[in-house]
Amino acid sequence: MRAVYPGSFDPITYGHLDIINRALKIFDELWVVVMVNPRKKPIFTAEERMKMIAQLIGNNGKVHVDYHEGLLVDYLRRNQIKVVIRGLRAVTDFQYELEMAIANKHLCHEFETVFLMTDERFSFLSSGLVREVAAMGGDVSMWVPPNVVEALNKLRSNFVI
Ligand code: PNS
Repeated sequence: MRAVYPGSFDPITYGHLDIINRALKIFDELWVVVMVNPRKKPIFTAEERMKMIAQLIGNNGKVHVDYHEGLLVDYLRRNQIKVVIRGLRAVTDFQYELEMAIANKHLCHEFETVFLMTDERFSFLSSGLVREVAAMGGDVSMWVPPNVVEALNKLRSNFVI
């Protein structure tokens, strides 16, 4: 069975990678889809985010990276995928995730959202936290892989973040 793991991934963290690995134990194929969250203003372009993810997931044929601008349900319908994966960290995620899952269900009855628990080591971790610490020159190498550290350093040296 195929599943979609949608998100902003701005940037991808070890928490996201943990969810990808968990999803791959359950689903045969996974599409990691960089999407637009209208509530957020990304620091990396969609291309940059996709490139960072592609570098990390390798080329094993089970995971694919994609980009979609628009409703998640349209992506699912177009690709005939019926399962959406979302990671849950702490109870604080629940309200937001519940709203999204219900809204998506109203928009399209045919698919299900499956929540996977993030490893407790990453229960505090978010891309926003990584961005904030990196912007102020802090070490984020325990939260994101080396290619992401490099991309953050490059942004900082350009005074973008
Ligand atoms: O990593 P994020 O920012 O929590 O991911 C949220 C995302 C991108 C999955 C969500 O904002 C989304 O689905 N955006 C596409 C627009 C959409 O379908 N909105 C309806 C669901 S509320």
